[in-house]
Amino acid sequence: MSANAIGRPLVRVDGRAKVTGAVRYAAEFNQKGQAYAVIVGATVGIGRITEIDSTAVSRMPGVIAVIDHLNAPRLAYREHRGAIDPSVGERLHVLQDDQVRFYGQPVALVVADTLDQAERAAAALRVTYAAGRPVVDPSDPKAQAVIPQAATRPGSRIQADKSRGDADGALARAAVKVDATCDLARENHNPMEPHATVAAWNGDRLTLWSKSQFVVNEQAEIAAIFGIAAENVQVICPFIGGAFGTSLRTWPHVTLAAIAARQAARPVKLVLTRKQMFFTTGHRPRSVQRVALGATADGKLTGLIHEGTGETSRYEQFIEALTSVSSFMYSCPNVRTRYRLLPLDTGTPIYMRAPGEASGVFALECAMDELSYALGIDPIELRRRNEPQIDEGENKPFSSRSLMKCYDLGAERFGWSRRDPRPRSMRDRRLLTGMGVASASYPAIHSPSSARVRLLANGIVEVEVAASDMGPGTYTSMTQVAADMLGLPVEQIHLALGRSDFPPAPPHGGSQTMASVGSAIRAACIAAQEQAARRALADRRSAVFGAPLDGVQWNEGRLRRRGDASPGERYRDIVASAGQPIEARASSQRDAEVARRYSMHAFGAVFAEVEVDPDLGTIRVRRAIGAYGAGRIVNPRLATSQCTGGMVGGIGMALMERTVLDPRDGRPVNAHLADYLVPVNLDVARLEAHFVDEQDPHVNPLGVKGLGEIALVGMAPAIANAVFHATGKRVRRLPIRIEDVLSP
Ligand code: MOS
Repeated sequence: MSANAIGRPLVRVDGRAKVTGAVRYAAEFNQKGQAYAVIVGATVGIGRITEIDSTAVSRMPGVIAVIDHLNAPRLAYREHRGAIDPSVGERLHVLQDDQVRFYGQPVALVVADTLDQAERAAAALRVTYAAGRPVVDPSDPKAQAVIPQAATRPGSRIQADKSRGDADGALARAAVKVDATCDLARENHNPMEPHATVAAWNGDRLTLWSKSQFVVNEQAEIAAIFGIAAENVQVICPFIGGAFGTSLRTWPHVTLAAIAARQAARPVKLVLTRKQMFFTTGHRPRSVQRVALGATADGKLTGLIHEGTGETSRYEQFIEALTSVSSFMYSCPNVRTRYRLLPLDTGTPIYMRAPGEASGVFALECAMDELSYALGIDPIELRRRNEPQIDEGENKPFSSRSLMKCYDLGAERFGWSRRDPRPRSMRDRRLLTGMGVASASYPAIHSPSSARVRLLANGIVEVEVAASDMGPGTYTSMTQVAADMLGLPVEQIHLALGRSDFPPAPPHGGSQTMASVGSAIRAACIAAQEQAARRALADRRSAVFGAPLDGVQWNEGRLRRRGDASPGERYRDIVASAGQPIEARASSQRDAEVARRYSMHAFGAVFAEVEVDPDLGTIRVRRAIGAYGAGRIVNPRLATSQCTGGMVGGIGMALMERTVLDPRDGRPVNAHLADYLVPVNLDVARLEAHFVDEQDPHVNPLGVKGLGEIALVGMAPAIANAVFHATGKRVRRLPIRIEDVLSP
């Protein structure tokens, strides 16, 4: 091994191919003779289909098939529990009955020769319903909270109820307290690339070119749905144009594309419209949370209560880590957290970048800010006084924790000392300005993964893993890992990702790819090196012939006897000599003992400065800085890009993103990018990400903690706290709106 690729700000190895349009995304895998499918969605929020008259539509130009619950194939829908499926409930059985469970649920599918023909026919299809009134608002008296079943299992990271000490008693006795409830909007993922699947059957074998963050799961799910063997399904997804979690699950459109292709007996392409991406492909659940904090007069926390409820569908219990962070972020002897679900007449939510943590930490960090004012203590100083020595929720040490270092670094870069602590005290001409801060945390997940490495006679090394790359730069960072492990230049590493017949990887989400897949590639490189060495040792023509395995070593991609200064042998020489490539496959998973002994999380401190127009109520983020302790940084350029991208998501969460449902039928009324607002360049201004030097010997062999999620976590509370500092208005509803800061 030589260390020159890891840690370097390498440009993306796939950057040129991406900007020149050379890479292909799911919808671009056009197949010869393909037809087009368009989904018809329910226009009522709950009820029953009473009639679908497809006679006229079937005769429209180019129409090949009109498929509904009456003529769709009966699907097996065998149980398949992937790492992403909610473990309680059953996924939507698409086109299997006349029931409408939520607005936009697919009720029919039109297949035609061209997209235009399919769209025209889909628009002409008349569906009649017996409709009821759906329950879609958490405040609806008909909405009843339930205990999330999967969160009652011992050992689950997400716990429905967790407590230590007597939080309620401590609150009652506290010298200083805050007690506040916040309401965070439903959000929809809006990646540039829409969901898309091209499906083609060849006899009993199905190929899906499909946008997926988890191709091996899509393979297993579709095999289970169609009742065929998993090896008969191949899922291909080499590139993703952003996803943020929405492509972690296999949504109904994938099944529909496969149904259509079978019915039409030709390949079929199905691309969701932007509007349809608000119906059946998940969302960040709306949450309502209460955080109560009690403290001594000098700012030591004595009691902490965090109660949160998130929405889910009627047919599945989607859970996320809404209240988890509150049990370990700060030192406090009395803590009680409670997590509940509210089943509504809606599609099942899905993880959206920093799922649970982003929402839960908002509630906690706004309450901490509020407490700092109640105490008259600087918000950073308040966190310092409550910095824990260990994870008090799990009663074990952190593998590493750099939160205070993040605050120190961030405060210095941000210029926190220039802040006048009094609300409404800072101005820039007529604009109010404010500075806010918040902590961030996200678990360092390391799931089992495997990888294959092939050394070729031309010097190229092929690396294969089923993992996806939704944009963080997985091709590049994994190339760096392989290059360093083998001591080769990055140009010689050829990485291939996103095929279900490659060695399996965990979901490309949860900030676990660098740790999980990186460690697997590392292990496969070590295995390939050992194979190559053994071959050379047994080869009479080799300079190391006859040496013991521990008598040789690899250096800069060359094998030599220890202490020998000869040029040594290259992989390609060994491969050429043997006349066949060397191939090694290996797996990696977290050491169970390490997981038992340590609490492993990344931490961060996020600083935001806002300006608020006192007359118009408009809010703008002027600049923000995130400082992160996330273990080893494999590629500073990509890490910065990841983090500033996550911060943009936080701006959206704080100030813009909200899916509004019509209470009459549950229809998302702003299901398009004109009314569903996401930050654009003018909303973003200056963002900086900094990394503290953090060496974690426990977390995984690469020492990495992952960066995708944590970058979104503290941003919204930092902005809300800055808005309070600027205006004196404590807004507990996201996104923060003009009327929230203008109202008296
Ligand atoms: Mo992300 S929600 O882990 O895709």
